[in-house]
Amino acid sequence: SGRSLALIILAALVVGYLLGSIPFGLLLTRAAGLGDVRSIGSGNIGATNVLRTGHKGLAAATLLLDMFKGTVAVLLANHFFGMEAAMAAGFGAFIGHIFPVWLGFKGGKGVATYLGVLLGFGLNPALVFAVVWIAMALMFRFSSLAALSAAIIVPVSLFYMGMPMVALMFGVMSVIVFWKHRANIQRLAAGTESKIGSKG
Ligand code: G3P
Repeated sequence: SGRSLALIILAALVVGYLLGSIPFGLLLTRAAGLGDVRSIGSGNIGATNVLRTGHKGLAAATLLLDMFKGTVAVLLANHFFGMEAAMAAGFGAFIGHIFPVWLGFKGGKGVATYLGVLLGFGLNPALVFAVVWIAMALMFRFSSLAALSAAIIVPVSLFYMGMPMVALMFGVMSVIVFWKHRANIQRLAAGTESKIGSKG
């Protein structure tokens, strides 16, 4: 019935949120004895800022774990309850990463989790993200610019891949990604954004 679908979607949102709210960048750098990653570089808890500690392995682990919490949320929800639940769980994971209750709702910028959720909806959309991100990163060396470029292309690609509802959801998520990158956008415009791997 409509009522039980609403309950399933609510449960998927909450479970997705809880998975997404695990701040892997913060936990890994803390466990490695590096202090609080929020006190260095951009102050973000994501892989790009973990890389500014100089620990490439930790940055890679942060990227993968922040991704896969989103993928797991989507695949689990899809397996048990289908497509609507998968969308709710994926959106919940993305929101959980950006607004984690554990960190006073001050989390990350959502890029890795966006990609992980996308992967849950198919390999091809995730490959589109990866190709755009890598091409832009190789050309300009700004993680933020690469992410913002991918966030423009992905919703459009999803639409043309025949997934209009998923495209709409990622369109909303892209708007949030842009909002979370407003300081990066100002730095890009001012020419003061730090390049991938540089300590600034
Ligand atoms: O994934 C986040 C990236 O786009 C920007 O990170 O630390 O340079 O603000 P950061």
